[in-house]
Amino acid sequence: MCGIVAYLGNKEACPILVEGLKRLEYRGYDSSGVAFVNDAAVDVVKTKGRISVLEEKLKDKSLTSSLGIAHTRWATHGVPNTTNAHPHVDHTGKIAIVHNGIIENFSTLKKWLTKKGCTFTSDTDSEVAANLISLFYNEQTEEKDNALRFEKAMRLALNKVVGTYGIVAICTDVPDTLIAARKGSPMVLGVGDGEYVLASDAAAIVQHTTQAVYLGDNEMVIITPGGYKTLTIDNVPFEAKIEQIEYSLDEIELAGHEHYMSKEIFEQPETLKAALSGRLNITDGQIHLGGIKDLSRELVRARRVNITACGTAWHAGLVAEYLFEEFAQLPTEVDYASEFRYRNPIIEEGTIQIVISQSGETIDTLAALREAKDRGALSLGIVNSVGSTIARETDAGVYLHVGPEIGVASTKAFTGQLAVLSMIALYIARRRHMSQQRFSQYVEALNEIPDKIGEILKQSEAIKEIAKKYCDRENWLFLGRGYQFPVALEGALKLKEISYIHAEGLPAAEMKHGPIALITEEMPVVFLAPKGTQYDKALGNAEEVKARGGIILAVATEGDDRMKEIADHVISIPDTLEELQPLLTVIPLQLLAYHAAVLRGHDVDKPRNLAKSVTVE
Ligand code: G6P
Repeated sequence: MCGIVAYLGNKEACPILVEGLKRLEYRGYDSSGVAFVNDAAVDVVKTKGRISVLEEKLKDKSLTSSLGIAHTRWATHGVPNTTNAHPHVDHTGKIAIVHNGIIENFSTLKKWLTKKGCTFTSDTDSEVAANLISLFYNEQTEEKDNALRFEKAMRLALNKVVGTYGIVAICTDVPDTLIAARKGSPMVLGVGDGEYVLASDAAAIVQHTTQAVYLGDNEMVIITPGGYKTLTIDNVPFEAKIEQIEYSLDEIELAGHEHYMSKEIFEQPETLKAALSGRLNITDGQIHLGGIKDLSRELVRARRVNITACGTAWHAGLVAEYLFEEFAQLPTEVDYASEFRYRNPIIEEGTIQIVISQSGETIDTLAALREAKDRGALSLGIVNSVGSTIARETDAGVYLHVGPEIGVASTKAFTGQLAVLSMIALYIARRRHMSQQRFSQYVEALNEIPDKIGEILKQSEAIKEIAKKYCDRENWLFLGRGYQFPVALEGALKLKEISYIHAEGLPAAEMKHGPIALITEEMPVVFLAPKGTQYDKALGNAEEVKARGGIILAVATEGDDRMKEIADHVISIPDTLEELQPLLTVIPLQLLAYHAAVLRGHDVDKPRNLAKSVTVE
């Protein structure tokens, strides 16, 4: 949520910042801006709207500075307009900042600063940070070294802030310095050859360098042309570890696709292979998971599993509930991370807390993880973004390895999460009680999933035709039983978030307890009914919808003639073991939502009001 980029080096900063903002636009896109120190003044250019609008505004400006900060915003405090856009400059005009996160005590601080003579122009919490730094800077009259003054002011200010921040500040008196800090919102420093790029995400850095320092909470970095130093906000210096950014520029390019979402849907056969690669071993019929192997004793002895996540990752968690109970016979509970942290969760001895997060930065998921750890749970992270906060704070974990996901609507991360969770459940099951024969069947079936996804993707045009026919309908239902219930939720979420169509996902049998009253001849009802233990019952539910005139769009197993007789449209998927079917049934739903959104003329990768990485509560 909100993207930050800052540059210090030997090139012109402005084009690098704008390019970086474009890479981070998925984090927020309601306004953006840049700031540079120029002849003892701060030059700020900012605007409401997309980065392209900012780019247009920058066209006739001559901004040659080789140091600057930039921001793309997802509004929290204050409406999205030019005044509230970042960077924010303090009332003396000396300090400019870009900020990601929420300053929870901003109103108390604002009153205090106002009494001290500060004036404010925006409605944002972030402007308070700029003024707070400035106040402490100006108060240190005895300190003659401006660089030290700036550094100390930053520390004093951050110690007063309650809330979260990824922040970068510049000061007109110290024109060759960037100071950045983080608490709760990510901040990565790319260390190049004579240049530094700070950003909320490595996507804005990888073009320049693959060497990075991931700042931890309450850590700061001070960057000058001579190098950088890392310290805590309490002034304790430490040596930062330089890590390798794990992906390449190619992985974040559109590669001929019109949207990231379609690219990410269509690359699922490859991303799934990558998620399974080196882990599924067909020859010896084993699953190898390096990230959790040191904990296999604890996992085998576990008494229960708690899963916490948000959005699509939560849906993957719901599928995992079925998997852990079925395969590993472990009692499993799934919670929205935002709810888990605010109730009084019971963590018994032997509880494994699994947190699922594509970005590894979702604030509610992170807070739920910390809560569970405080209460004694052993934590596992199922994360895509390597080096992210959740990945670093969990006791162990398994990365998805599906490559960076940029489209706001999550697709390949979902299938990656399902694959990894299936492998973990099987890994535990085999060590507890599952026979090698049964285990091998799942290993083989999992191995075939990527090619089967490839088969489903070939139906994209046919699915587009269905979308064309019904994309003007404003209400949809998605129904599924057992393993298909979470997929129904995911299908409905996909349609809502990018097509802005109202959709509900339900367990098919629950339809009779209310939602059936909604069914009319106008309403598309998507049935997820592959062959399996609940197939006959799902067919019965489809008959109930048909009897009331609803339009039935079914996702069914190849060769299912009974469903063909009932449904208006059938999308066929290859057969697989029931527990793995969500990996296949979700694909037509991703395509349906994608095509419906494009046909309705929406910006699929940047749906209104949404952001990909939700770093505020
Ligand atoms: C946002 C995104 C969703 C995502 C959810 C959780 O709402 O739009 O696509 O599923 O956050 O994100 P995470 O990175 O924790 O998986």
